[in-house]
Amino acid sequence: MKLLVTGAAGFIGSTFVRTVLDDRPGDEIVVLDKLTYAGRRENLAGLEDRIEFHVGAIEDRAAVRDAMAGCDAVVNFAAESHVDRSIAGEEGFAVTHVIGTTILLEAARELGVDRYLQVSTDEVYGSIEDGTFTEASPLDPSSPYSATKAAGDLLVSAHAHTYGLDAVICRGSNTYGPRQYPEKLIPLCVLNALADDPLPVYGDGRQVRNWLWVEDFARAIDVVLREGARGEVYNVGGPDELENIDVVRGILAACGRDESLIEYVRDRPGHDRRYSLSADKTRALGWEARVRFEEGLERTVAWYRQNEWWWEPIRSGEYREYYERQYGRALAG
Ligand code: NAD
Ligand code: DAU
Repeated sequence: MKLLVTGAAGFIGSTFVRTVLDDRPGDEIVVLDKLTYAGRRENLAGLEDRIEFHVGAIEDRAAVRDAMAGCDAVVNFAAESHVDRSIAGEEGFAVTHVIGTTILLEAARELGVDRYLQVSTDEVYGSIEDGTFTEASPLDPSSPYSATKAAGDLLVSAHAHTYGLDAVICRGSNTYGPRQYPEKLIPLCVLNALADDPLPVYGDGRQVRNWLWVEDFARAIDVVLREGARGEVYNVGGPDELENIDVVRGILAACGRDESLIEYVRDRPGHDRRYSLSADKTRALGWEARVRFEEGLERTVAWYRQNEWWWEPIRSGEYREYYERQYGRALAG
């Protein structure tokens, strides 16, 4: 199979590329990535000879057609992925998630690709107080990030329905592991703990997230790509639900720091209280999560401890300015 993987220089896309090349060394991978602040070529280090890398945006029709020509399938990871940045300014989110998805879908149809997979998120269902979202739950997004992701998903369904495009959607819960940009809760807190910087906890810290190990999500996407039924949605909920404050305490313990580093800060506007996502339909395709949160967190902390070469340029670059804007204080160092 020759796959076009968009957004593959990011956290989950790069893990997916590694997973596919490990499992099926004969597959060919073409990458299309705009290399935003979150897109890191080094995420694909060691694979340079095994992939064809195109720097370009999914909203750029010519770049898309060039990269997609001759591909059997498309897996779209390309996104602006951080909720707080979407609250600060949503235009880039709309361009990538709505216009970009449209351009990809049109090209997939015109070039006759056999399968299109849209990577999406549990956030399109909104917050749930009790119980668990299934694929039949209504879409009720609350942030500009999730609203534009939901719009992208609806465009995928519309293309499947109207033009008969063979498309599937795969929605994951909060994903964590190596190579995640440190704006997200877990890597942010790991790097702050290692630097003895305060760990910012929004509001009361009692919000609940459903955690999924990144390699488990990558394998699920690959299973849905190959086995999922045309036009269907597949949810991939992680095996563990935790309150944020317990995640933060776990990070402090794994980093050998005490709880005096916890700092409660202003809450995120419109903060979703709880996410909980099913995985039964994806399990029925033969997928299972392999890594539970306790083990995954240990592995994540170990990876960040051992890979300063990866995060040091990030922590001393654009991220410093972002951090000051978002948290009103400078990072240590
Ligand atoms: P990320 O921010 O780490 O990576 C996004 C990648 O997309 C980067 O390489 C970036 O350069 C690229 N990109 C952004 N805009 C682009 C554009 N217009 N054209 C081409 N490339 C572009 O994101 P991630 O955490 O790896 O998320 C990947 C996908 O998974 C997203 O669609 C996201 O909504 C979804 N998702 C993420 C999580 C999570 O917890 N991180 C959970 C569920 C679903
Ligand atoms: O649920 C899937 C989604 O998970 C993905 O679609 C998104 O791309 C991904 O960013 C993630 O969204 P969240 O908003 O849940 O992740 P984040 O890491 O930003 O925050 C996790 C929780 O921690 C959330 O309740 C907000 C809180 N938080 C976050 C940060 C960055 C804090 O308390 N302090 C922080 O500094």
